[in-house]
Amino acid sequence: MPVRVLMVCLGNICRSPLAEGILQSKVDPEKTMVDSAGTSNYHIGESPDPRSVEIASKFGIDITNQRGRQFTVIDFDDFDLIFAMDKSNYKNILRLARNEEDKKKVDLILNKISSRENLDVPDPYYGGTMGFENVFRMLDEATDVIAEEYKLL
Ligand code: 4NP
Repeated sequence: MPVRVLMVCLGNICRSPLAEGILQSKVDPEKTMVDSAGTSNYHIGESPDPRSVEIASKFGIDITNQRGRQFTVIDFDDFDLIFAMDKSNYKNILRLARNEEDKKKVDLILNKISSRENLDVPDPYYGGTMGFENVFRMLDEATDVIAEEYKLL
């Protein structure tokens, strides 16, 4: 059975599509299933933000086939690991958890780099291109740790 990893942000058009694409680009597809979702219903069915598409493409990663979807309680059954991009997403995911087993699957993604500091991947939606570069770098580092820790390489 592959390890099933879900990346979650608010809109599923900026941060989590990048997290999905970056992790996918590093892992053995036989060992890993990666997806992403948003806690909101704002961008269901939409392509990733063009600024995310651009920064991914700059690093040789194509995320254009992704489409926005909303996180649902069924995702607790469909995934082993659920990574929230920020504390607000984290709270909204935990609100849907049915039991301790569901809750144990969820972590803040940057806790993989600096454990217990509870840092947020900043929401780049209202900022400029630099925000997306910054997000890419953080997610690149965090996904290195995830790939290593769960033996997805
Ligand atoms: P994301 O960024 O959560 O990283 O996809 C956002 C995208 C859209 C909105 C907010 C954040 N929005 O308010 O529409």
